[in-house]
This record gives sequence, C-alpha cells and structure tokens, in this order.
Amino acid sequence: MPVDQIILGSGSSELIDLVMRAFADTGDEVVVPQGIFRMFAVAAGRAGASFIEVPVNEDLTPDLDAMRRRISDGTKLVAIANPNNPTGAFVRRDDLTRFVGSLPESVLFVLDEAYFEYASGIVDGYPNGLELLAQGRTVLVTRTFSKISGLAGLRIGYGFGPADVVAAMNKVREPFNTNLVAQAAALAALGDDAHRTRSRDLVVKEREFLFSELSSREGLRVHPSIGNFLLVDMPAGKEPLDTGFGRRGVIIRPMAGWGFPGSFRVSVGTHAENVKFLEVLDQLLAGARGQGLSGA
Ligand SMILES: Cc1ncc(COP(=O)(O)O)c(C=O)c1O
Repeated sequence: MPVDQIILGSGSSELIDLVMRAFADTGDEVVVPQGIFRMFAVAAGRAGASFIEVPVNEDLTPDLDAMRRRISDGTKLVAIANPNNPTGAFVRRDDLTRFVGSLPESVLFVLDEAYFEYASGIVDGYPNGLELLAQGRTVLVTRTFSKISGLAGLRIGYGFGPADVVAAMNKVREPFNTNLVAQAAALAALGDDAHRTRSRDLVVKEREFLFSELSSREGLRVHPSIGNFLLVDMPAGKEPLDTGFGRRGVIIRPMAGWGFPGSFRVSVGTHAENVKFLEVLDQLLAGARGQGLSGA
C-alpha cells in the first residue's frame, strides 16, 4: 500500500474525528445506521454536521436500501462499522460491494473495521474493506491496535484511503498526534503473530460459549456478534442488575446511553471470567425473579 494512502491516528477514534472535520461542514449530512459506534455521533456533532441515523433491520444489521434512499445532495459522508459496537452485527461482502457501488461519487464512505481480526477468515461472507479500495471506491477504512493487540491505552489506530482523502485528513490533523511509545508497541504487535492468533482464537471460542449460554437463559435475548463482545437484552426490571454486577466484581456496560435501553454489552473474557460473569448473572436474574422483576 503506498504510504500516501495510509494515515495513523491516536486510536481509530481520532481518524473518525479527522474524517468528519475534513469532509463534513456545518449542515452537511452524515448518514449512518442507527446505533452505530457513538464516536461517529460525537465527531459529526463537533463538525456541526447533521447526523442521520437510519433505522436498522430487526436483526440490527444496517438497512442498506433505507440508507441508500436517505442519501441526498446534502450527504457528504456515509459510515458503517463492520461489525458494529455494541450490536456485533455486520454487513456481508456482496451487500457491501453493491451498496458502496450505488453511492454517488460525491459521497465518502467510511468503513470502521476495528474488530476486523475477530471475523476475517473466520466468519463466512465477512468482507475486507481493502478490496473496496482496490476497486477504486472512495472509501476510508479504519482499523486499530486497541482490540486484537490490546493496546487501547496507548492510543494507536490506522486508516487506508485514496491519497486525496488521506491528504485532506492530514491537513486537519495535529502534527504530533501519535507518540513514539505507541508506534514502537504497534510495530512489536505487528511482529507478534502468536499473540494475535491466541487472542483471536480465545475470542472466537469464548464468544460461542457465551452466546450459547446466554441464549439458554429465559427472558434474555443475546444478539449474534462477530466482535469480542455481545449485546444482551435484559428482561424488564433490569435496573437492579446493572448495579448488581459491579457490586459482585463484574463490569458490564449498560447500553441505555447508546440507544439500547434495557440492554447491556459484555466483553468476551477468558473462560474463567466468562463463567464468573454467568454465575453473577444467574444470581441477579434469580434475585430479580424473586422480586417480581422478570420479563413476564
Ligand atoms: C466500532 C469501533 N470503532 C472504533 C473504535 C475506536 O477504537 P480506538 O479509538 O481505540 O482505536 C471502537 C472502540 O471501542 C469501536 O468499538
């Protein structure tokens, strides 16, 4: 990949921010699927753009036809997180290729692949954004060392795009955005295939375990995920459970603030951590039922 088609960021979050600032001005439209990773809303808000969230399908995958219909002359940027956080849902290769091919030339498509490594070569039909780029599409693909390489605290992500898109982002970028320590760690991570493979294999095995365990619990709905987390819809009366986890040493993320009231996201951990999470969940569900808080 030519170097003028690559950009580094202080996490891929910074790249989302930069691409919004470079391409979306006050009043311009940014079209996304409802429930997309929240950084997109934050960045669009900072750029003064109008953030259009298009309702998703019942299985929480983006409704690509509805998104296409919503694109207008005022749309500057369209984005999809593949898979999305927190839903874990993804768009398949054929659908994505068709969708991107249908976009007007004036629209920049941003494809967030923060969880790429947990799906590529594992999940049937999971696309690779770099193929779109190779086809000459106006697309910015973002990835990160925060997930598979565990470097979230060091803040380093990267993006690939056409040279003119990268150049426009570089114009609004702070000159010293990534630091030496993060870059050294990223280089070390690139050389550490064994760690990446171990991390990926653990997540793939354990997300299946968690999915099947959660699916068997009455009153819960767990959404299929190709990331390293799962979105779980709670039975009614969820509130005591949110705080109950923390008191028992398990941190989950309630998702009300992300547009999913009644749901939480759980990260896939080691087997022992996942078993502990399930034990606490069972205690809390039993307690909730005892207080008449079940979904019934
Ligand atoms: C879908 C998605 N994209 C991007 C990011 C940003 O990650 P980072 O800024 O650490 O690279 C996250 C982090 O949670 C994410 O879930």
